[in-house]
Amino acid sequence: MAGFTLPANSKVGTGKMTDSAAGASRPGTFRIYRWNPDDGDNPAIDTFVIDLDRCGPMVLDALITIKNEIDPTLTFRRSCREGVCGSCAMNIDGVNTLACTKATAEVKGDVRVYPLPHLPVIKDLVGDMSMFYAQYASVTPWLRAGSPPPEGRERLQSREDRAGLDGLWECVLCACCSTSCPSYWWNGERYLGPAALLQAYRWIADSRDEATGERLDALEDPFRLYRCHTIMNCTKACPKNLNPAKAIAEIKKTMLDRR
Ligand code: SF4
Ligand code: SF4
Ligand code: FES
Repeated sequence: MAGFTLPANSKVGTGKMTDSAAGASRPGTFRIYRWNPDDGDNPAIDTFVIDLDRCGPMVLDALITIKNEIDPTLTFRRSCREGVCGSCAMNIDGVNTLACTKATAEVKGDVRVYPLPHLPVIKDLVGDMSMFYAQYASVTPWLRAGSPPPEGRERLQSREDRAGLDGLWECVLCACCSTSCPSYWWNGERYLGPAALLQAYRWIADSRDEATGERLDALEDPFRLYRCHTIMNCTKACPKNLNPAKAIAEIKKTMLDRR
């Protein structure tokens, strides 16, 4: 049987324990991945016990409480705190999701908080999204039309054409889907992943766009599109209830239809 060991500097140790919930009627325990590139130490899991009656209901509220009141060095991304900016994506209780829309009460037992899987870690819960954004940019996520717009107004769509974009435009580029996709883990530098492909389809499906052929040409490649093996982790992971696997299937179907 094959045996696997992690490089010594990847082994995750036990970090510090801070209990700030003495006397609390509702203590909550958070086990949080920590890694600081500047101290030379291995990653570790720090444990924080806080009074859940003194913080908001979401995991992001707990992280903000810990950062504000216990450990200001705890590092994570967040902005809107209402599931719109996509920046607080992390792995909570083993599932990729948005910390601001994940209620602490939904987690049974200790709340385990890790960075999104398979991204290089910059610090603590912050992953390096450079490649993810470059892949997004590669699908040219904007309207491409050579013809001039109608005199004096925007390019309009019928209600039906506009409805065809529902389930696509809502993507907040959180990367929960791509970082839960085994094909993306294995071929992340060549396979675009479900988020970029959902965005690619958002423009292929747009009735105003005039670059469908070029968009499909750019995806016609054994890796960029066809590394999706319909494992469906992406759709399960999406905190906005979108269906990237379906969008990828639609691209493949459009590809076939044009032959
Ligand atoms: S359906 Fe495709 S994109 Fe989604 S998780 Fe599976 S392989 Fe990845
Ligand atoms: S499809 Fe869903 S999971 Fe993927 S980036 Fe968009 S919002 Fe996030
Ligand atoms: S803080 Fe914006 S989506 Fe969570």
